[in-house]
Amino acid sequence: MHLLQVTDTHLFADEQTGLLGVNTNDSFSAVIENIKSDNIPFDYILATGDLSQDHTKRSYQRFAERIAELERPCVWLPGNHDMQENMLTLEQHGVLAAKQLVSEHWQIIMLDTQLEGEPHGIMSQRQLDNLAEALAEYPDKHVLIAMHHQAIPVGSKWLDQHNLKNADEFFAVIADFPNVRGVIFGHVHQNYEFQFDGIAFIATPSTCIQFLPLSANFALDHQQPGWRYLQLTAEGRIATRLRRLSERSFLPDPKSKGY
Ligand SMILES: [Fe+2]
Repeated sequence: MHLLQVTDTHLFADEQTGLLGVNTNDSFSAVIENIKSDNIPFDYILATGDLSQDHTKRSYQRFAERIAELERPCVWLPGNHDMQENMLTLEQHGVLAAKQLVSEHWQIIMLDTQLEGEPHGIMSQRQLDNLAEALAEYPDKHVLIAMHHQAIPVGSKWLDQHNLKNADEFFAVIADFPNVRGVIFGHVHQNYEFQFDGIAFIATPSTCIQFLPLSANFALDHQQPGWRYLQLTAEGRIATRLRRLSERSFLPDPKSKGY
């Protein structure tokens, strides 16, 4: 199974609006163009939240219009910046709210960690129950879990205060399932790959602004917008390939003080 992850597009209704000096519509469009020219195969696109910055239906429509150019099914989960009421309109444009993808050897489970109005995440009892049910349904398949927030610290104090607050409850559910191979997420706007307890934790850069890894306080990085391909093998291995736009195409406003 081959996947493409795009995350944290932070789009606006107005295509001229930027976030901390980066025009998010332009950077997302550049990412889409590069994915097309990569010519790397993928079966599904996972959009892991913060798709809109201004919550408008138009911004979600903009996301769906560009994603449609990739001619593959796309599924989404919400981030802290999203408004799910308007995000549901993605369905009208073929971007689906499916919460489970199943192939011959793999199951992918998409979880909602949004606590509306808060930057940090919570996994509700309902989400925890859905997770447990999905895991019990296919005990013989390898599992990849997708969510917006980080369940383990990424090493930046200011970002890690906006983590998945009840990660212990999440880990309690998956503890009985050694077939969980990976957890992918967005939110931290940087490349992150770490093996914890036999599970690969993987974050993918945003398609717009980047946060400086391992920074105690808010700091932007000059790394370029990115995306990631994941290959899930029949043996349960996750091979990933991180891609970024070429150097210095999109640079943030250096005077930015916060996010
Ligand atoms: Fe974000």
